[in-house]
Amino acid sequence: MRYTRQGVSIEYDDIGNGVPLLLIHGFPLDRTLWRAQIAGLSQLYRVIAPDLRGFGHSGDTDGAAVTLEQYAADLNSLLDSVNVKQAVLGGISMGGYIALAFYAQYADRVEGLILANTRAVPDSEEGRQSRLANAQKVGEAGSGFLVEAMAPQMLGPAAKPELKIAVRSMMARQRAPGIMSALRGMAIRPDRTALLRFATVPTLIVSGSQDALIPPSDSEAMHAVIPDSRLVIIPDAGHLSNLDKADAFNHVVREFYKQVA
Ligand code: MLT
Repeated sequence: MRYTRQGVSIEYDDIGNGVPLLLIHGFPLDRTLWRAQIAGLSQLYRVIAPDLRGFGHSGDTDGAAVTLEQYAADLNSLLDSVNVKQAVLGGISMGGYIALAFYAQYADRVEGLILANTRAVPDSEEGRQSRLANAQKVGEAGSGFLVEAMAPQMLGPAAKPELKIAVRSMMARQRAPGIMSALRGMAIRPDRTALLRFATVPTLIVSGSQDALIPPSDSEAMHAVIPDSRLVIIPDAGHLSNLDKADAFNHVVREFYKQVA
């Protein structure tokens, strides 16, 4: 399925019936990240999973910053185009940053929030500089160095070799301009802690005990400030907990849905 916003086509899966679940992938990945959720949850809910602009089969960006608010605006028009008024938003990592940007702007469309392996705080100054330097380097030399650096940190140590290969190839096939845009957008994201303090939506926070990129302590910090939230740290799961421990991840989503729907 496909729709176009501001001249950029956005491709997405839209499978199943019931309370919609909009799934937002992380960086530098695409919607195939959610294949185990589409397989395991679409019998129960309507699962909508887009490729963010610049990633997967969606249209290209020009390498300039795409802010998290801009990705969120794409998702807002996606919901319009599929006639969905309200959805549960599930974002992992960068997808979590986007879910928070979406909630900041379109709270009345959010029936529940799933914040997986993500954080509310912005980058440190050092982190910001390193993202901007990486964006520049991707433009000059391609994304190979970034894939090499990140791939070993995406899954827990016990992940099966075929899963590691799948993640590496998902990262390797993403295009340089989309990667540069996302790096530059993430570098200027604001602190969402104050937003969460006043959140009035049921929220599920998921982490992996082996997450090497965004440690469980960041998830605990969000749990501490969101009044109505539940925190689950999946044992032995790495950063992409939905892929690494798909059954456990789907189980916590199903339990959460009982609270929402
Ligand atoms: C992700 O998995 O989306 C990224 O690790 C997020 C980030 O770089 O902050």
